[in-house]
Amino acid sequence: MPRYVYLDHAATTPLDPQVWQAMKPYCLDVFGNPNSLHLFGDEADEAVQQAKGDILHLLGAKQGKIVLTSGGTEANNLALMGIAQTYKHQGRHMVISAIEHDSVLSTCASLAKQGFTIHYVPADRTGRVRLDELEQALTEETILVSVMHANNETGVIQPIEDIGRLLQAKRLKQGTKTPFFHCDAVQTVGKIPIQVDEWNIDLLSFSAHKFYGPKGVGGLYVQKGIRLSPLLHGGGQEYGWRSGTQNVPGLIGAACALKQCQAHHDQDWQHYTALNHMMRETLESLPGIHLTVSAAYALPTHIHFRCERIEGQALMQELSKRGVAVSTSSACHARHWAPSHVMLAMGFSDEQAKQAVRISLGRNITKEDIHYVLNQIEDIVRTFRNSYVLS
Ligand SMILES: Cc1ncc(COP(=O)(O)O)c(C=O)c1O
Repeated sequence: MPRYVYLDHAATTPLDPQVWQAMKPYCLDVFGNPNSLHLFGDEADEAVQQAKGDILHLLGAKQGKIVLTSGGTEANNLALMGIAQTYKHQGRHMVISAIEHDSVLSTCASLAKQGFTIHYVPADRTGRVRLDELEQALTEETILVSVMHANNETGVIQPIEDIGRLLQAKRLKQGTKTPFFHCDAVQTVGKIPIQVDEWNIDLLSFSAHKFYGPKGVGGLYVQKGIRLSPLLHGGGQEYGWRSGTQNVPGLIGAACALKQCQAHHDQDWQHYTALNHMMRETLESLPGIHLTVSAAYALPTHIHFRCERIEGQALMQELSKRGVAVSTSSACHARHWAPSHVMLAMGFSDEQAKQAVRISLGRNITKEDIHYVLNQIEDIVRTFRNSYVLS
């Protein structure tokens, strides 16, 4: 009997049972439409306002708004498209890191077709966005800079506090409100305590299913005073930026999940760090395996490595047969096999990029799970080397 070990928590996490308990009354009893002007509506609206207030507080915002979305993809689209359409009279230039999630990169590709100029800033070999290049790329026409908090593939934490300071100084010097700073924090909300005010972040995306909340719910934090053009038109809900009846149970779940994460932060971080260390130590000792990034720069949940002459896809499939779930690149890429754009942006070759494997830890993973997975990796690598060399 194989052991089942899920090591793909960067793709999605299971729902925390406490979160489900918090959501349940809003599916069954408090089912009113928060936009209805009667007592059922008021009850739901009160819960919505309370949950949004809690999220704002947990993100370190004294003011501003939380726009409820269907997840990280929509939040990123709304941030980029919303700013582009509203502020295009001030400039049609944006600066984006080359290692962003596809939901940012594809939105930028669409904006480029509409006449916007997008400057892509590469990462260095450590996986961090090059600050010097980012600074040089800024012009007076730049209306938005978008850099993720941690990369979904490598887990590398980006210098967003430095970027926030840099942009604040630029705005003060120019005497303008732009460039705004958008941060895709889908991989860090629930793992790192966020401080949007302190870090000078204007817009921040998050997604509940990455931190033990429900799927299909996320949001965009928008600093006070910023205007956005909507993606969805209709009844004018969510400050007119995202029409449609709100997913009340989802929002309650997102707020509860974030509170749980914040409450267990220290304990979780220690747990991940211990398991991460264990994995790295063994992987490093195996011939032909290379860790892609240093633990000093990455989230402790992520272990990113490549195995010489073995494609990541082959290793992932073999592990899956043995009950272990890992990922090759971001999950959204998994059925569309191309070298990771993140690895390429960091300067790895096509061949090396295709060898990349991501392990992402979760709360319920044990040392025994890690021992089992390491034994499987060791065995697979040995078997592959002895029988069929893949690349
Ligand atoms: C960094 C990052 N941004 C955005 C997304 C998209 O989030 P969602 O699945 O909620 O649309 C993901 C999902 O993998 C992600 O890792």
